[in-house]
Amino acid sequence: MSVTVRVPAKVNVQLAVGAARPDGFHDLANVFLAVGLYDEVTVTEADELRVTCEGPDAGQVPLDRTNLAARAALKLAERHGRSPAVHIHIAKDIPVAGGMAGGSADGAGALVACDALWGTGASREELLEICAELGSDVPFSLVGGAALGTGRGERLEPLQVGGTFHWVFALADGGLSTPAVYGEFDRLTAGGDVPEPQASPELLAALAKGDVDALAATVSNDLQPAALSLFPSLTDTLRAGREAGALAALVSGSGPTTAFLVRDADAADTVARALRASGTCRAVRTAAGPAAGATVL
Ligand code: C5P
Repeated sequence: MSVTVRVPAKVNVQLAVGAARPDGFHDLANVFLAVGLYDEVTVTEADELRVTCEGPDAGQVPLDRTNLAARAALKLAERHGRSPAVHIHIAKDIPVAGGMAGGSADGAGALVACDALWGTGASREELLEICAELGSDVPFSLVGGAALGTGRGERLEPLQVGGTFHWVFALADGGLSTPAVYGEFDRLTAGGDVPEPQASPELLAALAKGDVDALAATVSNDLQPAALSLFPSLTDTLRAGREAGALAALVSGSGPTTAFLVRDADAADTVARALRASGTCRAVRTAAGPAAGATVL
């Protein structure tokens, strides 16, 4: 028997970052929007725990126990006193190390899939607790939709969204390590006053109304200067998307994927074509959000 779970990517429409905490993490006001780019995680009973992966970036995915999907299976098995022997296969469509929570998606997907395969019957609360142990973005991958993440991003409050938002994503040649980007944020803000992170009321209202112009005027990412400092050519990609008519252009999470908010699906095709022709990125994808969280297929 096997179980397949589909899990969405995310874009951060606002990522407000506070000063580094004593534990090294940063307090956030992190407005997540799940978008319709998906990984599918399939789990099947096996003699031992193993991970395989297919997809354009599969070669970059670790297949050992550092993979969040493997860690999710191990954590659930340990809590329920059972063997973690399972084959986890990831059909990967979310960019790897791209700032779109691809690894987090696989962690949430494997957790939900193993829970179903094993009949563990874990409560939603327990699943979310395990997700938070796996990583700051993993709980959001489970719930999807739109949410405000506080703490290190793991404490979630669901948000209402009054429409569909269309996006173009430009994938960069290479990845950025999340800790390196936060480290660069610390370096760039050293000696300065880093305010408490706050969700923007205007941005939350724009989401609730489904108002794309208001959302475009309010999207922000405090990690963007750090990502651009480590990956300067992203400036060219952002410019190419703006010149092609995107309403807003920003780095997605810790990058290096760049995200372009557009008016509708036709505009997404136009901006995607221009970005492909610009030679400033490796690949281009379009997707709309909000999208549902981890779903058993
Ligand atoms: O929680 P996660 O494993 O995704 O975090 C990866 C790294 O990103 C952390 O080790 C930390 O360096 C950085 N991070 C942070 N503050 C957050 C989330 C992540 O500094 N709120």
